Amino acid sequence: MIDTQMMKAAVFNRYGPPEMLSLREVPVPRPAPGEIRVRVVATTVNRTDTATLRAHPFFARAMTGLFHPKMQTLGMDFAGIVDDLGDGVITYQPGGRVFGLLPDKFGAHAEYLCMPADGAVACIPGNLSFDEAVVGEGAWYASSTVGLLSTGQTCLVYGASGAIGTAAVQLAKARGAKVTAVVGTRHLDLANRLGADRIINYEDEDFAAIGETFDLVFDAVGKTSWFACRRLLNQNGIFAATDLGPFWSNILLSMWFGITGSRRVRVPYPEDAPGFVRHLADLMAEDRFRGVFDCSYPLDDIVEAFQYVETGQKTGIVVINVQ
Ligand SMILES: NC(=O)c1ccc[n+]([C@@H]2O[C@H](COP(=O)([O-])OP(=O)(O)OC[C@H]3O[C@@H](n4cnc5c(N)ncnc54)[C@H](OP(=O)(O)O)[C@@H]3O)[C@@H](O)[C@H]2O)c1
Repeated sequence: MIDTQMMKAAVFNRYGPPEMLSLREVPVPRPAPGEIRVRVVATTVNRTDTATLRAHPFFARAMTGLFHPKMQTLGMDFAGIVDDLGDGVITYQPGGRVFGLLPDKFGAHAEYLCMPADGAVACIPGNLSFDEAVVGEGAWYASSTVGLLSTGQTCLVYGASGAIGTAAVQLAKARGAKVTAVVGTRHLDLANRLGADRIINYEDEDFAAIGETFDLVFDAVGKTSWFACRRLLNQNGIFAATDLGPFWSNILLSMWFGITGSRRVRVPYPEDAPGFVRHLADLMAEDRFRGVFDCSYPLDDIVEAFQYVETGQKTGIVVINVQ
């Protein structure tokens, strides 16, 4: 019986660098009533995982554990096969191919995981492979900002080559927006394939001096600031960022603009992960969203995967092949 078996998982019990992770044998989890158990085939290492491992920023410990991590196995994205059902689950069958997100409790850097059947999980559309389906984290973070756009509006995505940036371009296009993507030389072709209407090479041109204005300027990679971008905003334009900004300026400015009522600067936090995963499944089924794949590592090499992701140089997502 599989319930008496052990599984491999990447575990850490102290915050710190990737070397804090080690592969351990831990019990295979049992699905509680209303849960499914998934045999994980693919997961990712993403910037949420690396930040949580290092407890960065420090205040994140309020959620992840003040002195020691509450969850000892990271991994927010998964794609795999339903393997067992808790009592009362009728929406999935063993053998079903699923993908999803574990935004609150992580745990996908392991051979098996359990999660609520009504959580952030959906069937993998069509013939997409597990690697192609394990794409949620960056897209979910992008969705909260891109959701500010409506059809016909204009958007500039700064850093359109990362997990969040590549997703932001595609999700903005799916909303009918006109997208300008800012990337470096090695990602010009990628931005073109993602469907950007205009592409700016930040290595050749000062993107902030192009003389155009936008409804939304999205710093998807945390490398610019409101001060650098404010001339790019039209009268009601919004600057949004994924990161705190220099000297926490994005947070402080979002509070200030919140008080003044204009909400010109925002650091949106994504919500409704279950709804988003179902939306992403629809977009992938309609061929309107594709994950951008950088490289893959076996679970045994997860420390190397974390080290690579921490360079801040990945293109789209880094996959971990678990099985
Ligand atoms: N708010 C949250 O909870 C949350 C969650 C996840 C991530 N984040 C933050 O969101 C940011 C993006 O995450 P991600 O996973 O999308 O990042 P990522 O995939 O690691 O982004 C890497 C990409 O950014 C490009 N890049 C590096 N420096 C750049 C620059 N100066 N200008 C433009 N592009 C540059 C790199 O290509 P080139 O160097 O070749 O240009 C690379 O393709 C990170 O700062 C991360 O900390 C926040």
